[in-house]
Amino acid sequence: MRQFGSNVKVMDHPLIVHKISMLRDISTSMKEFRELVEEISMLMGFEATRDLPLKEVEIETPVATARAQVISGKKLALVPILRAGLGMVDGMLSLLPAAKVGHIGLFRDPDTLLPVEYYCKLPEDLHERDIIVLDPMLATGGSASASIQLLKNKGVKNIKLMCILAAPEGILKVQTAHPDVEILCGAVDEKTNEHGYIIPGLGDAGDRMFGTK
Ligand code: PRP
Ligand code: URA
Repeated sequence: MRQFGSNVKVMDHPLIVHKISMLRDISTSMKEFRELVEEISMLMGFEATRDLPLKEVEIETPVATARAQVISGKKLALVPILRAGLGMVDGMLSLLPAAKVGHIGLFRDPDTLLPVEYYCKLPEDLHERDIIVLDPMLATGGSASASIQLLKNKGVKNIKLMCILAAPEGILKVQTAHPDVEILCGAVDEKTNEHGYIIPGLGDAGDRMFGTK
């Protein structure tokens, strides 16, 4: 396993590994692709929420009073990067139903591969929340870095990035620009090609999810 530093976690759970292999397969249909992205996001969400703080409360069981632990009500927001990040929202919301959701719309200019912002709608109290940025693909890292910078410019302090597939150069770019951000990856692939696609990857996540090609 390649080492990317302590702020990068690469998933090794067999269910995640298996489902990512199915996601890569060219014969996986659009419907299956959507379902897999949702399922993988929920499984990865388990790891992304591992450090949520707990507090002690008193509850009545049918037979006694118990001191028990519940999540301390930490405020969270999910921020999918459009379009493909949308596919990760429902899986995460099934774990975190009270999380607010902000949206950042970016597309990569096909010539420069640089991200172009076209939409941004975020919760007003964003700066009071911990953020999980969602995007299935971390390729050159331009889109993730720009989104994280945009969130930091709004006063956000605590950000995690959750992606299903990453290329080493994308990880490096985010790590260099944002060393404070924890990166959770489902898998790390070999490289990006001259068009900025992850190799071997899964193709264009947005197109496969929404049937646009
Ligand atoms: C894809 C993907 C990421 C970005 C990753 O989006 O969902 O946002 O590319 O590439 P990068 O790390 O090199 O920036 P795309 O720009 O294709 O837009 P889409 O989701 O609308 O298809
Ligand atoms: N965006 C995608 O959807 N796929 C890639 O391989 C790279 C960026």
